[in-house]
Amino acid sequence: MIILGIETSCDETAASVLKIERGRFFILSSIVSSQIDIHRPYGGVVPELAARNHIINILPVINQALTKAKVKPAGIDRIATTTGPGLITALLIGVETARVLAQQWQKPIIATNHLKGHLYSSWLENKPIRYPALCLIVSGGHTELILMKSSQSLKKIGATLDDAAGESFDKVAQMLGLGYPGGPAISKLAKTGNAAAFKFPRPMVNEPNFNFSFAGLKTAVLYTKNKLPKIDQQTKADLAASFQQAATDVLVQKTIKAAQHYKAKTVMLTGGVAANRQLRVELGQAVGKIKASFIVPPIKLCTDNAAIIAAAGYFAKPSPWQKLTADPNLEIR
Ligand code: KG4
Ligand code: ZN
Repeated sequence: MIILGIETSCDETAASVLKIERGRFFILSSIVSSQIDIHRPYGGVVPELAARNHIINILPVINQALTKAKVKPAGIDRIATTTGPGLITALLIGVETARVLAQQWQKPIIATNHLKGHLYSSWLENKPIRYPALCLIVSGGHTELILMKSSQSLKKIGATLDDAAGESFDKVAQMLGLGYPGGPAISKLAKTGNAAAFKFPRPMVNEPNFNFSFAGLKTAVLYTKNKLPKIDQQTKADLAASFQQAATDVLVQKTIKAAQHYKAKTVMLTGGVAANRQLRVELGQAVGKIKASFIVPPIKLCTDNAAIIAAAGYFAKPSPWQKLTADPNLEIR
């Protein structure tokens, strides 16, 4: 099966051609046109600007994906497009483009949940997944723990009650004047910092549930920073490293607690924050200790792209193009 994936939920315009043969996934192309430079001066994504740039980029990006994959429209079996969650103005561009192409090319269309895209990014690794499996999705807008009894049985068992993990990285980066996007900036600066320099809270680690909270951690960094008489480059690095350590500890401890509770045989780490090296290493080590297998996709498949949307499209059923609707608050079901 050959799937064209389309992704425009936030600030990346992306298209990918994915081939699935005997249960194995082959990315024939994955084109991502990033708008980071456009949004950077504003310190975050401006929805209207994102939509305008998706309009400009979407067809060239799809063309590039088809050309690179050496696949003609006739060779595509289905089109998968992100319908949510995300910015409504941005989502609409991918949804309407997919709708028109599906009509023109007479192809089945798959409405894909962006979070399921992150979840199924693990399948692109072509590694065995044993059930029950547990997936930690950590992105700019979401932090969720999903329990899977099979490739298509998904149950949300925990989520953030306030800020998402990525959002807390972005906000702390903003406080430290590191610019946008914050995650990569924090992790770069943290390399030269002392993670034990500041004792930040580990919110909700001891609570008897699998939920998260990052707002208090972010505020603790702000209060600590405001009390310091002077902030030189080393102090900034120490703040970044101590914050990153606290966020990592919470994510690792809660995921392991859930994995033990549900006797998970495979633990997956996905979403933009899964690009964080410290989190990848520390969660990987902790999962090894409980004798489960660990899957984390390569960094370019953790941050937003359309190969993951095509992968999720493989597991979903087509819907009539008339029924396709963008839903900014779409939940995992
Ligand atoms: O999945 P993603 O690309 O987009 C959403 O679906 O939200 O995730 C973006 C988030 C941003 O908050 C960004 O700061 C964070 O992922 N991120 C990181 C790193 N790279 C990206 N966070 C921590 N460390 C990183 N290296
Ligand atoms: Zn994402």
